[in-house]
Amino acid sequence: MIEATRKETVVRQRYAAGAKERAKNLCCPVDYDSEYLEVIPQEVIERDYGCGDPSRYLHEGETVLDLGSGTGKICFIAAQIVGRNGKVIGVDMTDEMLEVARRNAPVVGKRLGYANVEFRKARIQDLALDLEFLDRQLKESPITNAAPFLAADELAQELQVKNPLIASDSIDVVISNCVLNLVEPKSKRQLFDEIFRVLKKGGRAAISDIVSDEPVPEEMQNDAELWSGCISGALTEAGFLQAFEHAGFYGIQILKRDVQPWRTVQGIEFRSVTIEAFKGKQGECFERNQAVIYRGPFKEVLDDDNHRMERGKRYAVCDKTYNLYKKAPYREFFEFVVPIVDVPLTEARPFDCSRTALRHPKETKGQDYDVTTQANNKCCDGDSCS
Ligand SMILES: C[S@@+](CC[C@H](N)C(=O)[O-])C[C@H]1O[C@@H](n2cnc3c(N)ncnc32)[C@H](O)[C@@H]1O
Repeated sequence: MIEATRKETVVRQRYAAGAKERAKNLCCPVDYDSEYLEVIPQEVIERDYGCGDPSRYLHEGETVLDLGSGTGKICFIAAQIVGRNGKVIGVDMTDEMLEVARRNAPVVGKRLGYANVEFRKARIQDLALDLEFLDRQLKESPITNAAPFLAADELAQELQVKNPLIASDSIDVVISNCVLNLVEPKSKRQLFDEIFRVLKKGGRAAISDIVSDEPVPEEMQNDAELWSGCISGALTEAGFLQAFEHAGFYGIQILKRDVQPWRTVQGIEFRSVTIEAFKGKQGECFERNQAVIYRGPFKEVLDDDNHRMERGKRYAVCDKTYNLYKKAPYREFFEFVVPIVDVPLTEARPFDCSRTALRHPKETKGQDYDVTTQANNKCCDGDSCS
């Protein structure tokens, strides 16, 4: 049994050991793309404690942050997908994991012909605090009584503000592989807020983790083995998605869900899922007479700003929503109605996004629109109309 406050220490100790020697029970089988494994040294490959492959959802040129990077496998795969124009930052709190990852980074860099990966030390629920800087300060003034403890606390707060380890709005994609469940309950909310903070507007999270099909009882959460083994810190399937929603993300979806549980404990199923969530719905709303039509197949949908739309109807949307819908993950579900007379953004009036309203076709065409045309030949297939 562990005290609620000791969970992080238990996790650190277990993964420090797992960095030195392969720990069998920490491994959930994952099919990585073998093409990317060729340049990765064996000790990294065998000390893999992931449960999914978020790197599959990355693109060339992106700046990626991997939370709980361990010995670096996902970072080294990501390095190849984002290529020499992209960048990968791995963050972990366990020195032994960082040591293996950092020792192998130049090996991978040499084999690739470019080096675009670095590893930093932080707790993923506090990505602003540079733990190595703090390590150095504490070596110079060790804590022997309350005064240096309070001074260190002050320094940490100052560092977070003046010199954050991961700056706000600096990352294209936050990825993580089987780590979020390990963060103690009282810090989980802060963890999701931190993911949101570091992402650029328009950025996204692609996260693989273990989730449960039922809430995990407290006595199971206090079992050190189950907690540090990526089991009992799991959020429920619904709770995991809600945590992203509460942090302000939109367009949240399950990309992959294992049908077979990884483990079942006391009847509760624990399985791997990979989810995606986007940042960027915050901001002002302006009226530019745009409209969207939900294509179906469902009778109606509700977005993360509470716009409820019925299939086939034309809805008034603000410029921000219109542009969000034009991109992933919404694009394929909507038709877009462009106003005939463009309203420049600089002249646009505020739009009340708190209500959902239909858009009369006259609003996008103009109230005086009375054009009559001949049949449009572009509608015909082949030569039959010519
Ligand atoms: C299950 S392993 C996964 C490692 C890696 N993502 C992989 O796929 O092999 C969990 C890793 O997360 C790190 N970790 C756990 N909790 C953390 C926290 N709160 N902050 C930073 N790192 C953490 C551990 O040190 C360990 O390296």
